[in-house]
Amino acid sequence: MPVILEAHDLVKRYPLGEGQVEALSGISLAVERGEFVAIMGSSGSGKSTMLQLLGGLDLPTSGEVVIDGVRISTLDDERRTLTRRDKTGFVFQFFNLIPLLTVAENVALPFLIAGDPATRHRSRIDELLTMVGLADKANHRPDQLSAGEQQRVALARALATSPAILLADEPTGNLDYTTGTEILDLLWDSADRLEQTIILVTHAAHAAAYADRVLVVRDGRLLDEIALGRRRDHDARELIARLATLGL
Ligand SMILES: Nc1ncnc2c1ncn2[C@@H]1O[C@H](COP(=O)(O)OP(=O)(O)O)[C@@H](O)[C@H]1O
Ligand SMILES: [Mg+2]
Repeated sequence: MPVILEAHDLVKRYPLGEGQVEALSGISLAVERGEFVAIMGSSGSGKSTMLQLLGGLDLPTSGEVVIDGVRISTLDDERRTLTRRDKTGFVFQFFNLIPLLTVAENVALPFLIAGDPATRHRSRIDELLTMVGLADKANHRPDQLSAGEQQRVALARALATSPAILLADEPTGNLDYTTGTEILDLLWDSADRLEQTIILVTHAAHAAAYADRVLVVRDGRLLDEIALGRRRDHDARELIARLATLGL
Protein backbone atom coordinates (compact mmCIF):
# COMPACT_ATOMS: atom_id res chain seq x y z
CA MET A 1 0.00 0.00 0.00
CA PRO A 2 1.22 3.55 -0.67
CA VAL A 3 2.44 5.71 2.19
CA ILE A 4 -0.21 8.20 3.30
CA LEU A 5 1.39 9.79 6.34
CA GLU A 6 5.05 10.65 6.90
CA ALA A 7 7.00 12.37 9.62
CA HIS A 8 10.56 13.50 9.06
CA ASP A 9 12.71 14.25 12.09
CA LEU A 10 9.96 16.00 14.07
CA VAL A 11 11.13 18.20 16.90
CA LYS A 12 8.65 20.07 19.09
CA ARG A 13 9.57 22.49 21.86
CA TYR A 14 7.05 24.32 24.01
CA PRO A 15 7.85 27.52 25.88
CA LEU A 16 7.95 26.88 29.62
CA GLY A 17 8.60 29.76 32.00
CA GLU A 18 11.87 31.36 30.95
CA GLY A 19 12.98 28.30 29.01
CA GLN A 20 11.38 25.56 27.00
CA VAL A 21 10.55 21.88 27.16
CA GLU A 22 11.34 19.52 24.31
CA ALA A 23 8.34 17.23 23.84
CA LEU A 24 9.62 15.54 20.66
CA SER A 25 13.29 15.05 19.87
CA GLY A 26 13.40 13.72 16.31
CA ILE A 27 10.57 11.42 15.29
CA SER A 28 10.46 9.89 11.81
CA LEU A 29 7.92 7.41 10.52
CA ALA A 30 5.94 6.36 7.49
CA VAL A 31 2.45 4.89 7.65
CA GLU A 32 0.73 3.14 4.77
CA ARG A 33 -2.83 3.56 3.64
CA GLY A 34 -5.04 1.16 5.60
CA GLU A 35 -2.48 0.60 8.34
CA PHE A 36 -3.49 0.56 12.01
CA VAL A 37 -0.68 1.91 14.18
CA ALA A 38 -0.77 2.21 17.96
CA ILE A 39 1.46 4.61 19.88
CA MET A 40 2.32 3.67 23.44
CA GLY A 41 4.51 5.25 26.09
CA SER A 42 4.30 6.53 29.62
CA SER A 43 2.65 9.81 30.54
CA GLY A 44 4.60 12.82 29.27
CA SER A 45 6.54 10.82 26.66
CA GLY A 46 5.16 12.98 23.82
CA LYS A 47 2.31 10.86 22.43
CA SER A 48 -0.33 13.60 22.27
CA THR A 49 2.15 16.06 20.82
CA MET A 50 3.06 13.53 18.15
CA LEU A 51 -0.60 12.93 17.28
CA GLN A 52 -1.32 16.66 17.02
CA LEU A 53 1.59 17.15 14.64
CA LEU A 54 0.71 14.08 12.56
CA GLY A 55 -2.84 15.38 12.16
CA GLY A 56 -1.78 18.94 11.35
CA LEU A 57 -3.44 20.40 14.46
CA ASP A 58 -0.11 21.98 15.37
CA LEU A 59 3.20 22.54 13.58
CA PRO A 60 6.60 21.15 14.57
CA THR A 61 9.44 23.39 15.71
CA SER A 62 11.47 21.65 13.02
CA GLY A 63 10.94 18.68 10.75
CA GLU A 64 8.15 17.90 8.38
CA VAL A 65 4.77 16.14 8.30
CA VAL A 66 3.51 14.94 4.91
CA ILE A 67 -0.17 14.03 4.65
CA ASP A 68 -1.10 12.23 1.44
CA GLY A 69 1.84 13.81 -0.37
CA VAL A 70 1.26 17.34 0.96
CA ARG A 71 3.97 18.93 3.14
CA ILE A 72 1.71 20.65 5.61
CA SER A 73 4.23 23.18 6.89
CA THR A 74 4.19 24.71 3.40
CA LEU A 75 0.46 25.49 3.69
CA ASP A 76 -1.03 28.68 5.11
CA ASP A 77 -3.46 28.33 8.02
CA GLU A 78 -6.52 28.16 5.81
CA ARG A 79 -5.18 25.47 3.49
CA ARG A 80 -3.87 23.52 6.45
CA THR A 81 -7.38 23.60 7.97
CA LEU A 82 -8.85 22.40 4.68
CA THR A 83 -6.32 19.57 4.38
CA ARG A 84 -7.07 18.53 7.93
CA ARG A 85 -10.81 18.62 7.28
CA ASP A 86 -10.54 16.58 4.09
CA LYS A 87 -7.98 14.01 5.17
CA THR A 88 -8.27 13.49 8.91
CA GLY A 89 -10.70 12.76 11.72
CA PHE A 90 -9.92 13.11 15.43
CA VAL A 91 -11.23 11.31 18.51
CA PHE A 92 -10.22 12.40 22.01
CA GLN A 93 -10.38 10.92 25.50
CA PHE A 94 -13.05 13.32 26.72
CA PHE A 95 -15.22 13.16 23.58
CA ASN A 96 -15.22 16.96 22.97
CA LEU A 97 -18.87 17.05 21.96
CA ILE A 98 -20.74 20.35 21.85
CA PRO A 99 -23.21 20.20 24.77
CA LEU A 100 -25.87 22.46 23.24
CA LEU A 101 -26.11 20.48 20.01
CA THR A 102 -28.05 17.25 19.55
CA VAL A 103 -26.34 13.98 18.70
CA ALA A 104 -27.22 14.38 15.01
CA GLU A 105 -25.98 17.98 14.98
CA ASN A 106 -22.70 16.98 16.59
CA VAL A 107 -22.18 14.31 13.93
CA ALA A 108 -23.04 16.89 11.24
CA LEU A 109 -20.41 19.36 12.49
CA PRO A 110 -17.73 18.50 9.89
CA PHE A 111 -20.26 19.40 7.17
CA LEU A 112 -21.34 22.60 8.93
CA ILE A 113 -17.70 23.65 9.30
CA ALA A 114 -17.29 23.09 5.57
CA GLY A 115 -20.20 25.51 5.05
CA ASP A 116 -22.27 22.65 3.74
CA PRO A 117 -25.91 22.56 4.92
CA ALA A 118 -26.42 19.50 7.14
CA THR A 119 -29.79 18.85 5.47
CA ARG A 120 -27.86 17.77 2.36
CA HIS A 121 -26.17 15.07 4.43
CA ARG A 122 -29.24 13.75 6.24
CA SER A 123 -28.87 10.21 4.90
CA ARG A 124 -25.12 10.11 5.62
CA ILE A 125 -25.78 11.20 9.21
CA ASP A 126 -28.50 8.55 9.60
CA GLU A 127 -26.08 5.97 8.23
CA LEU A 128 -23.36 7.01 10.71
CA LEU A 129 -25.76 6.96 13.67
CA THR A 130 -26.94 3.50 12.65
CA MET A 131 -23.34 2.32 12.34
CA VAL A 132 -22.58 3.36 15.93
CA GLY A 133 -25.96 2.09 17.19
CA LEU A 134 -27.45 5.47 18.10
CA ALA A 135 -30.14 5.93 15.46
CA ASP A 136 -32.78 6.16 18.19
CA LYS A 137 -30.87 8.90 20.06
CA ALA A 138 -30.37 11.37 17.22
CA ASN A 139 -32.20 14.14 19.08
CA HIS A 140 -30.64 13.57 22.50
CA ARG A 141 -28.09 15.98 23.93
CA PRO A 142 -24.66 14.66 24.96
CA ASP A 143 -25.42 14.94 28.70
CA GLN A 144 -28.31 12.51 28.22
CA LEU A 145 -25.91 9.81 27.04
CA SER A 146 -23.54 7.41 28.78
CA ALA A 147 -19.78 7.89 28.36
CA GLY A 148 -19.64 5.05 25.85
CA GLU A 149 -22.50 6.52 23.83
CA GLN A 150 -20.82 9.93 23.84
CA GLN A 151 -17.64 8.39 22.46
CA ARG A 152 -19.67 6.64 19.76
CA VAL A 153 -21.06 10.05 18.76
CA ALA A 154 -17.53 11.43 18.65
CA LEU A 155 -16.44 8.49 16.50
CA ALA A 156 -19.38 9.00 14.11
CA ARG A 157 -18.42 12.67 13.85
CA ALA A 158 -14.77 11.81 13.14
CA LEU A 159 -15.83 9.35 10.44
CA ALA A 160 -18.48 11.62 8.88
CA THR A 161 -16.41 12.66 5.88
CA SER A 162 -14.79 9.19 5.57
CA PRO A 163 -11.32 10.62 6.23
CA ALA A 164 -8.30 8.70 4.98
CA ILE A 165 -6.62 9.05 8.38
CA LEU A 166 -8.23 8.70 11.78
CA LEU A 167 -6.26 9.90 14.79
CA ALA A 168 -7.41 8.90 18.26
CA ASP A 169 -5.87 10.07 21.55
CA GLU A 170 -6.74 7.66 24.38
CA PRO A 171 -10.27 7.14 23.00
CA THR A 172 -10.97 4.38 25.51
CA GLY A 173 -9.18 6.05 28.42
CA ASN A 174 -12.43 7.16 30.01
CA LEU A 175 -14.42 3.99 29.28
CA ASP A 176 -14.75 0.61 30.94
CA TYR A 177 -13.21 -2.43 29.22
CA THR A 178 -16.35 -3.64 27.44
CA THR A 179 -17.40 -0.20 26.22
CA GLY A 180 -13.84 0.52 25.10
CA THR A 181 -13.80 -2.72 23.16
CA GLU A 182 -17.01 -1.72 21.35
CA ILE A 183 -15.38 1.54 20.27
CA LEU A 184 -12.25 -0.26 19.08
CA ASP A 185 -14.33 -2.78 17.12
CA LEU A 186 -16.16 0.08 15.38
CA LEU A 187 -12.84 1.75 14.59
CA TRP A 188 -11.32 -1.43 13.21
CA ASP A 189 -14.40 -2.24 11.10
CA SER A 190 -14.55 1.22 9.58
CA ALA A 191 -10.85 1.22 8.82
CA ASP A 192 -11.00 -2.22 7.29
CA ARG A 193 -14.01 -1.38 5.14
CA LEU A 194 -12.74 1.99 3.89
CA GLU A 195 -8.97 1.23 3.94
CA GLN A 196 -8.55 4.00 6.46
CA THR A 197 -5.33 4.57 8.34
CA ILE A 198 -5.61 4.65 12.12
CA ILE A 199 -3.18 6.18 14.56
CA LEU A 200 -4.23 5.22 18.07
CA VAL A 201 -2.56 6.62 21.18
CA THR A 202 -3.26 4.38 24.14
CA HIS A 203 -2.01 3.25 27.54
CA ALA A 204 -3.89 -0.03 27.30
CA ALA A 205 -2.24 -3.12 25.79
CA HIS A 206 -5.63 -4.65 25.00
CA ALA A 207 -6.37 -1.56 22.86
CA ALA A 208 -2.94 -1.50 21.22
CA ALA A 209 -3.42 -5.20 20.40
CA TYR A 210 -5.90 -4.11 17.68
CA ALA A 211 -3.03 -2.52 15.76
CA ASP A 212 -0.86 -3.90 12.96
CA ARG A 213 2.19 -2.48 14.73
CA VAL A 214 2.93 -0.66 17.95
CA LEU A 215 5.33 2.25 18.22
CA VAL A 216 6.80 2.80 21.66
CA VAL A 217 7.74 6.37 22.54
CA ARG A 218 10.04 7.45 25.34
CA ASP A 219 11.23 10.98 26.09
CA GLY A 220 10.10 12.25 22.70
CA ARG A 221 11.87 9.52 20.71
CA LEU A 222 10.80 6.25 19.12
CA LEU A 223 12.20 3.59 21.43
CA ASP A 224 10.96 0.48 19.66
CA GLU A 225 8.50 -0.89 17.16
CA ILE A 226 6.52 -4.09 17.66
CA ALA A 227 5.05 -5.68 14.52
CA LEU A 228 1.84 -7.58 15.15
CA GLY A 229 0.36 -8.07 11.68
CA ARG A 230 -3.09 -7.48 10.22
CA ARG A 231 -5.59 -8.93 12.70
CA ARG A 232 -7.88 -7.36 15.23
CA ASP A 233 -7.51 -10.01 17.88
CA HIS A 234 -3.84 -10.19 18.73
CA ASP A 235 -3.00 -11.78 22.03
CA ALA A 236 -2.60 -8.82 24.41
CA ARG A 237 -0.54 -11.00 26.76
CA GLU A 238 2.25 -11.32 24.19
CA LEU A 239 2.24 -7.56 23.71
CA ILE A 240 2.29 -7.00 27.47
CA ALA A 241 5.32 -9.28 27.72
CA ARG A 242 7.12 -7.36 24.97
CA LEU A 243 6.25 -4.04 26.61
CA ALA A 244 7.53 -5.32 29.96
CA THR A 245 10.96 -5.89 28.43
CA LEU A 246 10.90 -2.16 27.56
CA GLY A 247 9.97 -1.21 31.11
CA LEU A 248 6.35 -0.37 30.29
N1 LIG B 1 1.08 23.07 25.34
C1 LIG B 1 2.15 22.70 26.07
N2 LIG B 1 2.93 23.61 26.68
C2 LIG B 1 4.01 23.24 27.38
N3 LIG B 1 4.42 21.97 27.55
C3 LIG B 1 3.69 21.00 26.96
C4 LIG B 1 2.51 21.31 26.20
N4 LIG B 1 1.98 20.14 25.75
C5 LIG B 1 2.79 19.16 26.20
N5 LIG B 1 3.80 19.68 26.94
C6 LIG B 1 4.90 18.90 27.55
O1 LIG B 1 5.48 18.08 26.56
C7 LIG B 1 5.76 16.79 27.06
C8 LIG B 1 5.00 15.75 26.27
O2 LIG B 1 3.60 15.92 26.51
P1 LIG B 1 2.47 15.07 25.78
O3 LIG B 1 2.73 15.08 24.33
O4 LIG B 1 1.16 15.59 26.25
O5 LIG B 1 2.76 13.61 26.37
P2 LIG B 1 1.79 12.34 26.53
O6 LIG B 1 0.61 12.53 25.66
O7 LIG B 1 2.65 11.19 26.14
O8 LIG B 1 1.42 12.27 27.97
C9 LIG B 1 5.41 16.83 28.54
O9 LIG B 1 6.57 17.16 29.26
C10 LIG B 1 4.40 17.95 28.62
O10 LIG B 1 4.40 18.54 29.89
MG1 LIG C 1 -1.45 12.54 26.07
